[in-house]
Amino acid sequence: MRSSAMRDMFALTERPEVISLAGGLPDTSTFSPALYARLMAEVAEGSVARALQYGPTEGLRIVAECAAGVMAAEGSAVDPDHLLITTGGQQVLDLVAKTLIDPGDVIVAEGPTYPGALPAFAAYQAEVHQVAVDAEGMVVEEAAAAIAALRSEGKRVKLLYTIPNFQNPAGVTLSLERRRRLLALAKEAEVLILEDNPYGLLRYEGEPLPTIHSLDSGEGEAETVIYLGTFSKIFAPGVRVGWVVAPAPIREKLNLAKQGADLCSSPLCQLFVTAFFRAQEGQRPAWEAYLDSQRALYRRRRDVMVAALTRELGPLASWNTPEGGLFLWVNLDPSFDTTDLLARSEQVAFVPGRAAFYDGQRGANAMRLNFAGSPEEEIEEGIRRIAAAVRGEQGLLGALRQPAPKAPPGGSVLPLQPRRRREQR
Ligand SMILES: Cc1ncc(COP(=O)(O)O)c(C=O)c1O
Repeated sequence: MRSSAMRDMFALTERPEVISLAGGLPDTSTFSPALYARLMAEVAEGSVARALQYGPTEGLRIVAECAAGVMAAEGSAVDPDHLLITTGGQQVLDLVAKTLIDPGDVIVAEGPTYPGALPAFAAYQAEVHQVAVDAEGMVVEEAAAAIAALRSEGKRVKLLYTIPNFQNPAGVTLSLERRRRLLALAKEAEVLILEDNPYGLLRYEGEPLPTIHSLDSGEGEAETVIYLGTFSKIFAPGVRVGWVVAPAPIREKLNLAKQGADLCSSPLCQLFVTAFFRAQEGQRPAWEAYLDSQRALYRRRRDVMVAALTRELGPLASWNTPEGGLFLWVNLDPSFDTTDLLARSEQVAFVPGRAAFYDGQRGANAMRLNFAGSPEEEIEEGIRRIAAAVRGEQGLLGALRQPAPKAPPGGSVLPLQPRRRREQR
């Protein structure tokens, strides 16, 4: 088992003086306390006994209907009975690995990938092989070549793991053509796809793309795609409610794996989520109105962060401007190591790029910045602090690269005696 870089980071970001651009946090401070109280009162009045009781392992049907409604908003039709409610999307990663992975099996993933997935996979002794990502997401040809090469070494490739929308951490979106090619590759190679999609509805501009799940399912059930969804980023990570849609035989095993893990996800939280996703605001669902306001907020914050990066770091760094999601992936000159930079940064936290690679080596000059979870002034101050650390590190690296001063001719430095060779001693 490995420590998750994310867990370690949370300890640091608990300190009030630290500006955290590190977590994968949405902004929950925008949620109305009055609405929260109303929803809780609704749960208390309508279903207190149910909220306080154990529930079915697969989750309450009413919350599965809400999850299916969220998927429908992204164009994926799914029967709520084909959904397993989980304790956040993170539990899906754990359950899928628990169910499918034997020690040494390979998961092909994007490089960089979601840092929290790596320890979940490593706990079941999966090997994670990471393939390059460009502006259109995972490079599918590289994934195909990797599967062929791994198989020729006698390795068993079990899963293709992808975060198709506003990828965590790179911010890129898998193009429609690549979604089709990835699905075709998975079918041809008889490998399952794990589509991890917490961010699809957090789009600020551009056209939404169909989920890989919907490309696979057509009229019926998907056969190749295991789909991970969560209420964390569109509503609240604190409720710890997510879901998985998987082909029936796998779903049954996931259900068994979940029984062993936690019997069921909290019915209290499921009922709270249901109350919110059923609530109306005027003529429309309250969650859609809330999501609209969150999208507008995050979009503004993204723009503030991009402007601050341009102002403070300019030519010292490069980054993409994602069309949605929560993250910017920033690359510095290859001579930088952002793990060292984090240690040197004054009161600001970010995720060093190495955390997004299984080998802990690649991504050394990159960092992931969350633009959604902090107010604008904090984003600006956080980037100022990072830029100060970058300039400090740059000065240090420059000093180290200076040629060593020459000894003065005939000066006080004693010439070293040539070393005698070992065999002469
Ligand atoms: C890509 C991805 N998958 C899964 C998760 C887990 O989310 P949760 O367990 O809160 O649903 C996250 C959280 O940051 C994520 O970014």
